[in-house]
Amino acid sequence: MTKIFYFSATGNSLWSAKKIACNITSANPSQECELINIGAYAHDDNEIVIEADAVVFVFPSFAYGMPRVMRKFVKKAQFKTPYLAAFVTFGSSPRGTLGSLRRILKKIYAGKMFFGKIPATENYLAIFGTPEVDTIRQRCEMQADATEEASRSVIERKENKVSLFYPLSFLVYCLFSLGIKLFYKFYRISGKCSGCGLCEKICPVSAVIMKERKSKGVSRKQPHFTSKCEHCQGCVNLCPLRAIQFARVRFGTRGYRHPEININELIK
Ligand SMILES: Cc1cc2nc3c(=O)[nH]c(=O)nc-3n(C[C@H](O)[C@H](O)[C@H](O)COP(=O)(O)O)c2cc1C
Ligand code: SF4
Ligand code: SF4
Repeated sequence: MTKIFYFSATGNSLWSAKKIACNITSANPSQECELINIGAYAHDDNEIVIEADAVVFVFPSFAYGMPRVMRKFVKKAQFKTPYLAAFVTFGSSPRGTLGSLRRILKKIYAGKMFFGKIPATENYLAIFGTPEVDTIRQRCEMQADATEEASRSVIERKENKVSLFYPLSFLVYCLFSLGIKLFYKFYRISGKCSGCGLCEKICPVSAVIMKERKSKGVSRKQPHFTSKCEHCQGCVNLCPLRAIQFARVRFGTRGYRHPEININELIK
């Protein structure tokens, strides 16, 4: 059994995780793959023991580092597997993301390791804006090629190392880690919100709670953001009415989702 752990807000990492699973089983039909969402472990403080023929991680780069939930997960996991591979999906550059993962793993895991990068579409609308349709097409093609390469690396049990030292990445990630503790306070809901509750359902770490609110004498449900927020931008991208704002940032009329990932696949 190969266990594939993923974290995904807008579907890029999920798409690659699914493709890797499919390629592994096509190469060896007796090798089953299980896809596991790391978000499900976000609020679980128990130790996690993972037994498998191989363990694969697929996750996005956040500020040149790992999503906080993924970092916590790896730190508390015990790996009983001879092989572990990790793939980071990224929009522009993941810099020291894989190095930060290797720093943790080398203390707790002695088996064979492989680290790889998968270019994908940038989903951080607050800085980069909505990606153009042509850009999405080009990035998806790059993602598909890199995912094929990633699958081959796992099937052939390739090994490699990545550098552990990226001082700039370390600094940027430290600032992000401080910011993330406060960012949830800056999400705003515009009058366009219909109270549909999709943001609550798709939040991978259950950081959104729908609450009854009174506005102009009318009571209706609206999302409330909590400190569990990973700032993954899932809700911002996927809200069908574009009703979620972050501080003073005005988002475009379209959000981003991997074109081959259905919204239902992102619902917990
Ligand atoms: C908070 C945040 C920080 C990000 N930081 C980086 C980064 O440092 N480098 C990069 O190349 N992409 C960065 N991205 C883009 C994502 O890593 C990229 O779009 C990823 O493929 C999204 O995967 P997902 O669709 O599975 O969530 C960032 C995205 C978010 C939301
Ligand atoms: S913010 Fe968007 S997704 Fe969330 S309840 Fe309102 S309309 Fe629905
Ligand atoms: S509240 Fe939105 S930005 Fe925060 S973790 Fe959930 S989906 Fe991601």
